[in-house]
Amino acid sequence: RHVLVLAGGLSYEREVSLRSGRRVADALRRSGVDATIRDVDAGLLTVLETERPDAVFIALHGASGEDGSLRGVLDLLGIPYVGAGADPSRVAWDKAAAKATLQKVGLPTPDWIALPHETFRELGAQALLDRIVERLGMPLMVKPAEGGSGLGAQAVRTVDELPSAMVGCFGYCDTALIERFASGADIAVSVVESPDGPTALPAVEIVPADGVYDYTARYTAGTTTWHAPARLDPETAERVAETAVAAHDALELRDLSRVDLLVDEAGAIQVLEVNVSPGMTETSLLPIAVQAAGLDFGTVLADMVEQAIK
Ligand code: DAL
Ligand code: MG
Repeated sequence: RHVLVLAGGLSYEREVSLRSGRRVADALRRSGVDATIRDVDAGLLTVLETERPDAVFIALHGASGEDGSLRGVLDLLGIPYVGAGADPSRVAWDKAAAKATLQKVGLPTPDWIALPHETFRELGAQALLDRIVERLGMPLMVKPAEGGSGLGAQAVRTVDELPSAMVGCFGYCDTALIERFASGADIAVSVVESPDGPTALPAVEIVPADGVYDYTARYTAGTTTWHAPARLDPETAERVAETAVAAHDALELRDLSRVDLLVDEAGAIQVLEVNVSPGMTETSLLPIAVQAAGLDFGTVLADMVEQAIK
């Protein structure tokens, strides 16, 4: 089997993706899979057509890797790939669309407003801010509607902080997702599919050293500690696992995903988002969950490749 691992590309998460790609390729090779890694650029089509890999593993984060565009190209070329198809990826990548889909099937997600940059510019700032706060209250979370790795995301505790948070967010995406702030333990549940269907791996609880799980806390070793499995009572842990699988199914995902959620002290769950191309770096959550499940990372990835080819 020849598997082409696609990574890098031009996105704000380029460096993270290169780290994910190297780790995926290494793990596949250790499992006996002939894996090569390719930094995605304009030469990609030629590479795909000449190499004709048996499968592609998409370790690209950010746009193109997650928004369905690359997956659509692979579909056209008839090259199997690990992970969700083009249309479901497009929906999952757009946090507002994903939240609407989750809400439709009754899954809890914090109330939100998606605000395009143009609307923000056109409407007088104060009237707009008042309306947002009237609708969602305070505090809030502001994040790019399409993005990842915590880039451009910020908690907002007073109305005065809202404009600069939005401007910071528009640096990454033309639409800001403004969410009612939900508190609770930060939990990530990786979902992997076997021929029997999707299964939740042990939940991972994230405890950033200074309380904020931003880009630095995500990718600098030693800045975040994890509890895997998460410190949840068995009943809550089961609901969390069921919720994650339900979110994966509602978005019609395939092979793997990572569902990020919050669990408050009463055990109430809020789903924040679902990632179709979860990080695979040394500090990323899916590999931590695989290890907590007592599984071998390379074997899990190699199984996904076989499943994608079938
Ligand atoms: N966007 C990063 C890579 C993640 O979800 O893990
Ligand atoms: Mg994400």
